[in-house]
Amino acid sequence: MLAATDMSDYALELLSISCTFHSKDDPGQRYTAVADTTLRIKAGEFVSVVGPTGCGKSTLLNVGAGLLEPSSGTVKVFGETLAGVNARAGYMFQTEALMPWRSAVANVMVGLQYRGVSDADAREQAEAWLSRVGLSGFGDRYPHQLSGGMRKRVALAQTLVLDPDIILMDEPFSALDIQTRQLMENEVLDIWSAKKKAVLFITHDLDEAIAMSDRVVVLSAGPATHPIGEFAIDLARPRDVAEVRTQPRFVELHTQIWEVLRDEVLKGYAQQLRKAA
Ligand SMILES: Nc1ncnc2c1ncn2[C@@H]1O[C@H](COP(=O)(O)OP(=O)(O)OP(=O)(O)O)[C@@H](O)[C@H]1O
Ligand SMILES: [Mg+2]
Repeated sequence: MLAATDMSDYALELLSISCTFHSKDDPGQRYTAVADTTLRIKAGEFVSVVGPTGCGKSTLLNVGAGLLEPSSGTVKVFGETLAGVNARAGYMFQTEALMPWRSAVANVMVGLQYRGVSDADAREQAEAWLSRVGLSGFGDRYPHQLSGGMRKRVALAQTLVLDPDIILMDEPFSALDIQTRQLMENEVLDIWSAKKKAVLFITHDLDEAIAMSDRVVVLSAGPATHPIGEFAIDLARPRDVAEVRTQPRFVELHTQIWEVLRDEVLKGYAQQLRKAA
């Protein structure tokens, strides 16, 4: 029988979320990064959120992870209002988040150890995940002894070893070269299709968003970022992220979505220039 908390169709719901920050230099000054944003992800659904740099993508993901309390709005996890950290979510950060003093296997083990799993069990599961992400034999290496792509694989194993029902990924592969990136995207899709977890995937790369997702949500440029378009991606699965880009339907979807995204990217870019000035 399903637990009462699992009766909801949605794994994660961000409901009318707004996030306002105080300026560090002038606490009287407020900046509304995200305004009245609603985003729902079904169990097993792969949803990408695209938007220009600085628009509020990481902010929204932090809210979904329970790491940032929104100024207003509610987060629901499998129908239950979230208070504190989202224990059903695994989070892959935009920046490198491995512990440099721990070996690869020890980095993957840490979440399990934190949950009280014995060291021997944690090691066995961590090694199994390292080999699943193509790193068997690299467990003893420290982060500085691994390539950027390998470190991302360790971070992926670190997230997935906890078997989260919701996977939150914040531009996980944006620092990688295109070939490594496509390999990793395909690996994520393979793992996802086997486990069918809810995924909220943040990216500013529209090609990546379309190739990976069931649905793409476009955010406006900030301030007061909010969704301005939502597109169902009806490309057949399984997909190869490199191959799928050549399909006429992909090109059609890309054209449609870019139509909505283009102006926001230009606005976002102009804002970054103003901020830097
Ligand atoms: N803790 C904070 N205090 C003040 N301002 C913040 C804070 N966190 C985010 N911001 C501001 O909110 C806006 C959105 O930031 P966020 O990191 O969510 O953008 P993003 O869409 O993830 O950008 P990128 O694509 O560059 O990663 C930015 O203008 C940022 O400066
Ligand atoms: Mg970000």
